[in-house]
Amino acid sequence: MLPKIDFTTTQAYKYLADYYIKINEKSLKDLFTEDSGRFEKFSVTFNDILLDYSKNRIDDQSIALLIQLAKECQVDKAIEAMFQGEKINETEGRQVLHTALRNFSGEPVIVDGEDVMPNVKAVLAHMKDFTNRILSGEWKGYTGKEITDVVNIGIGGSDLGPVMVTEALKAYKTRLNLHFVSNVDGTHIAETLKKVDPETTLFLIASKTFTTQETMANATSAKDWFLESGAAQADVAKHFAALSTNEKGVAAFGIDTQNMFEFWDWVGGRYSLWSAIGLSIALGIGYDNFEALLKGAHQADVHFRTAAFEENIPVILALLGVWYNNFFEAESHAILPYDQYLHRFAAYFQQGDMESNGKYVDRSGQRVDYQTGPIIWGEPGTNGQHAFYQLIHQGTKLIPCDFIAPAISHNPIGRHHAMLLSNFFAQTEALMNGKTEEEVVAEFQQAGKSAEEIEKLKAFKVFEGNRPTNSILFKKITPESLGALIAFYEHKIFVQGIIWNIFSFDQWGVELGKQLANKILPELENEESITSHDASTNGLINQYKAWR
Ligand code: F6P
Repeated sequence: MLPKIDFTTTQAYKYLADYYIKINEKSLKDLFTEDSGRFEKFSVTFNDILLDYSKNRIDDQSIALLIQLAKECQVDKAIEAMFQGEKINETEGRQVLHTALRNFSGEPVIVDGEDVMPNVKAVLAHMKDFTNRILSGEWKGYTGKEITDVVNIGIGGSDLGPVMVTEALKAYKTRLNLHFVSNVDGTHIAETLKKVDPETTLFLIASKTFTTQETMANATSAKDWFLESGAAQADVAKHFAALSTNEKGVAAFGIDTQNMFEFWDWVGGRYSLWSAIGLSIALGIGYDNFEALLKGAHQADVHFRTAAFEENIPVILALLGVWYNNFFEAESHAILPYDQYLHRFAAYFQQGDMESNGKYVDRSGQRVDYQTGPIIWGEPGTNGQHAFYQLIHQGTKLIPCDFIAPAISHNPIGRHHAMLLSNFFAQTEALMNGKTEEEVVAEFQQAGKSAEEIEKLKAFKVFEGNRPTNSILFKKITPESLGALIAFYEHKIFVQGIIWNIFSFDQWGVELGKQLANKILPELENEESITSHDASTNGLINQYKAWR
């Protein structure tokens, strides 16, 4: 059981509320002037990953108090409860053990009195064998040709993780072409099917529950297309595999359960890329690279479980997020990767974070009277710089940002990577320092502007600065470093959920949408005028029916 502590009643919270007033008067520039050792003090290195959090509105005292907050909220107990397989997903009565999927410690992980590791290893062995047979060409399609294309059909956690990882690790691509279909909009499957050949395509139906409306609709359309192309029912076994916890559902759909890759209800959907849901990753980058991804995440797990909070990357990231969310009243958090391969990283953690911590009911069932999960957003640099950075620099909102970049590019073309990284460093520096009126005036004078012009324009060119950033600089995107990075963000989200006293591993808000759509669908399929809803919904449905 997780502790149920209202963090706003802790001693640390009270001290932090007072201390916030003090620190809010100081600028980041002042803090760096006062303490030249900030970089050494406020940075942590783990393997080839460096977190520099010195450009945050913190000093020794605020960090000490934030760590005290984590201790008073019993984050240490919560971490152990998760790793040891307690049913910390209380509203669904489940353990939270995505860490077991990447457990290479040799230690057992006990669920309901049984070690789950043999089953975890057996599924990994099945994935390895299958991946190698497909990649070697030993596995043939129904007309005897090798598989060339893989279409993963899934949504949410059964899509976003594999998409993000296979994009991030494209430098490790195998000979297979990967496609992902998620949206129930028929356009998504239709456009994908135009690109593939039924004789050489493998469909992976990725769904934890095997009941999700979007996935089942897309899977059925894919199967119909396959059969209409001339294949027989018996050929489905060579072209369809299922990644699921629901064996009955898989069999009922007509997929040979030999081609089912199992996982378990103690794996949350948005934490499932490490499970059989990762089969598209294994096919896309090779099984050994998939395993290296898991190993990188495992090392991050060991760090999270054992490092003191002062040195613990996910704990530090989480506490900084709480600092801005609950004291500085920041509403959102930007994730800004300076690497094109990481272009889906922010989108992935939109689900990871917002589906986990977008909750207003605390672990005691009471409505909270403080802010919980922030809005997560972001795009890769430098594109973001030419789109929304204006608001980060000169808007009225405080937006803490994570800048993420590899030091070595997989594509070292000319000066590109140095140019990219010069933007990374320049942006974090500018967000911190801003530009003073004196600097603006001096620049104008040098450019030969008149006193009158300077007076008119100077206010628009001043940057207040004092905008906080984390810099996550790592050596290179590899399966190991990516695995660790993802695990760090997962654990950050977990720690924040513990502090905010919410359940991070259910998603009842999403379930509502599923129920409502299922209720309305039959109303769209008859010819009657609809009156069962509010005036707006009735009006919209009836107009849709008139126009379709
Ligand atoms: O989006 C809600 C959700 O329940 C996610 O948590 C999950 O990843 C997704 O739906 C897909 O569910 P399934 O894998 O069961 O099809």
